[in-house]
Amino acid sequence: MKSTRTQVGIVGAGPAGLTLARLLEVEGIDAVLLEGRSREYVENRIRAGVLEQRTAELLTDAGVGERLEREGLVHHGVNLQFERERHRIPLTELTGGKRLVVYGQTEIVKDLVAARIASGLPLLFEVDDVSVHELESPSPRIRFRHEGEEQELRCDLVAGCDGFHGVCRPSIPPDVLRTFSREYPFGWLGILTGVAPSHDEVVYAHSDRGFALLSMRSPELSRLYVQCRPDDDVAEWPDERIWSELQFRLGLDGWTLAEGPVLEKGITGMRSFVAEPMRYGRLFLAGDAAHIVPPTGAKGLNLAIADVRVLAEAIVSWYRTGDEMLLDAYSSTCLRRVWRAEQFSAWLTSMLHTPPNEDPFGLKLRISELRYVTSSESAARSFAENYVGLDLV
Ligand code: FAD
Ligand code: PHB
Repeated sequence: MKSTRTQVGIVGAGPAGLTLARLLEVEGIDAVLLEGRSREYVENRIRAGVLEQRTAELLTDAGVGERLEREGLVHHGVNLQFERERHRIPLTELTGGKRLVVYGQTEIVKDLVAARIASGLPLLFEVDDVSVHELESPSPRIRFRHEGEEQELRCDLVAGCDGFHGVCRPSIPPDVLRTFSREYPFGWLGILTGVAPSHDEVVYAHSDRGFALLSMRSPELSRLYVQCRPDDDVAEWPDERIWSELQFRLGLDGWTLAEGPVLEKGITGMRSFVAEPMRYGRLFLAGDAAHIVPPTGAKGLNLAIADVRVLAEAIVSWYRTGDEMLLDAYSSTCLRRVWRAEQFSAWLTSMLHTPPNEDPFGLKLRISELRYVTSSESAARSFAENYVGLDLV
């Protein structure tokens, strides 16, 4: 078996793993990134789009924000729609100047992969049979197969950035880990369509046929979602059905939703999940490997990047001073922000979606809450500060 050594072994080259590798590279710390999928798959997996200002700034500070700065769409507000009324929440005004940037996760991943390859640093795609060992020892190991060869990577630390279905979290003994979760009785059917966005800001729409969301990727590409059942098959959603639901749910007098060719279509289930603690010995979990939020608050990618910022700082401090204090604080530092985002995302999800067996009382409560958030300045401010991202560390 081939055996190699690095300082930090990173499992998973999604936004968390790639960003961590970049932050460590900037500080002169060696890392090896192992990814189960192909480069093409990872670069084309359509997911998040809304970046908090500090997420965008971190990528820029790490030297991978050049295209983001040029092509990202800066947003100063967001819209909540219900009972055929659209209400704008002026995010920047309510949060002392904060803004959001709409830039696809696919583009962030492409920028980070290109930067890693340009630096000539190790990033292995299509690795198989990844397993992590001796996590409680000072020299944990990652075993995997790459291009038919069995390999062992000895490290000082392992970063588990391998998403919700990865191998790192299940490697933590069950009596050490506590998990908290909630499943929702709906999913999102998302499309990418080749048409100019019909609105210049994101619109979250509640309707009595369910939720819909209008977002975008560029001046020529729109991203739209409709609430569906979590077990729906995309085959049940021909393009005409999607457009007719979007037209109904987003519809507004005096405004038209432009339709275009559907370039991509997929269904996402919705779940809230947190694993505590986010550390076991020399294994540190980051991003979706440790927590999941329903996409309604646009928080998942932002949380993943926030985790690796805290982790990179802790690792750098440990190598520089030998002091484990920040590594010890990693899990609790991250979990404060994670739980805030969990609460916000769960709340927004319940306010905007229509449950399968809607009772008329529940509907009245949700409409009243939407009216409160969009008419009371302090309620709108509370929504806004969570949506743009609270600084909890
Ligand atoms: P992932 O992106 O899941 O990356 C994990 C990586 O690990 C993957 O590349 C995977 O292939 C790899 N891997 C898994 N197992 C192994 C293994 N055994 N060995 C090696 N590699 C492995 N978030 C937002 O902030 N804003 C949004 O607007 C938003 N919208 C979303 C819309 C949708 C439809 C969805 C599905 C998600 C959305 N999210 C959003 C959430 C966001 O996409 C995720 O939170 C984000 O991808 C988390 O990044 P990650 O790197 O932690 O995990
Ligand atoms: C997106 O653009 O994909 C998007 C926007 C807002 C969300 C989730 C996803 O809450």
